[in-house]
Amino acid sequence: MSPKIFLTGATGYIGGSVLHALVTAHPSYTITVLLRKTPPSFPSVYPNVKIVQGDYDSAEILAEQARKADIVVHNGDSDHEPSLTALLAGLTSKPTPSYLLHLSGTGILSDWASPAHLGTLNPKVYSDADPTDIATLASLPDDALHRGTEKLLFRAAAAHGEKVRIAIMCPPDIYGRGTGLGNTQSVFVRMFIADVRGAGNRPFYYGEGANARSWVHVEDLMKLYVRVVEAAVDNETSFSGPGEFPGYYFAGTQEHRHIDVARGIGRVLEREGVVADAEPVEVGLEVIDGMARHPRFPQLGRYLYASNSRTRAVRAGKAFGYKGEAPGLMESLEGDVLAALGR
Ligand SMILES: NC(=O)c1ccc[n+]([C@@H]2O[C@H](COP(=O)([O-])OP(=O)(O)OC[C@H]3O[C@@H](n4cnc5c(N)ncnc54)[C@H](OP(=O)(O)O)[C@@H]3O)[C@@H](O)[C@H]2O)c1
Repeated sequence: MSPKIFLTGATGYIGGSVLHALVTAHPSYTITVLLRKTPPSFPSVYPNVKIVQGDYDSAEILAEQARKADIVVHNGDSDHEPSLTALLAGLTSKPTPSYLLHLSGTGILSDWASPAHLGTLNPKVYSDADPTDIATLASLPDDALHRGTEKLLFRAAAAHGEKVRIAIMCPPDIYGRGTGLGNTQSVFVRMFIADVRGAGNRPFYYGEGANARSWVHVEDLMKLYVRVVEAAVDNETSFSGPGEFPGYYFAGTQEHRHIDVARGIGRVLEREGVVADAEPVEVGLEVIDGMARHPRFPQLGRYLYASNSRTRAVRAGKAFGYKGEAPGLMESLEGDVLAALGR
């Protein structure tokens, strides 16, 4: 029987790309998506995908769709607790086991909250297959990014682990053009370019600019998504865990220092006449704190531009032979910058 998949965020950068990857790899899967606005071309591009109208606050619809599905792939807003609660309620209300892939991100491991390594290299690199690091993931502080939803997932795994197997998809910063019908651009390059103005129209860094983060091309990330969904279809016991924990899947294929990314973006901005000088300038923390304003996360600027978040996708490497195959970040920056500029 064809597996029944319920997918959210299908017009987003990540969720839209996941839908495209699943339909392409497995046209026989029965896929239903939640949409609050349907792109005009959606029915003709995806004639076999069923659309349910609603948003993340449509608790009854989410629970009902989760109840009907074998696998739920929840994307779009990694912090939206009511939608996750509704999906978990639907999944736990049925007698048969089911699977949930929840989109989070390695921002959960960023060191933004402490001044110790802002702007400098933090030697700590996390692995999703190391028992000590997994214990850290299970007990992150409440101010860690996406912690509210992750606590819901840990609670659900502890209470219903036999019934609902949970994978936490944990990509780092993503680059490359998405393949969905809605947003096709990732967030970092767009926000950095928007914040260049706050740094006197120059690319910028904090401290030494040596803080480093992992990155993944959206194409590589989609290969991982398809493999994790296939693991759910095949009832692979290694999908979640260890034990009653959700299974974390890091996805980074490379890492870069902030200053190198800033310089790479700066080169394209200079060539395009957006900045007069590609060389990044140092800015103070008060400038960083005024950037990337976000109602739910007042210090998003520290996270994006001054923190480290270094991870290795060991679990996916061991389970699926996952590795980076798409072009690297530095080769791809030009396309991402031009897309962000609308050129
Ligand atoms: N991009 C990255 O580098 C990255 C890396 C790691 C983690 N993440 C996390 O992944 C999540 C998604 O990122 P993204 O880049 O894919 O975002 P995105 O392109 O903005 O996509 C968001 C998607 O979720 C849908 N959505 C959002 N709120 C909704 C609501 N209340 N009801 C119904 N649909 C809703 C949007 O629908 P509409 O089209 O109708 O607005 C869209 O389909 C974010 O929480 C982000 O923090 C992103």
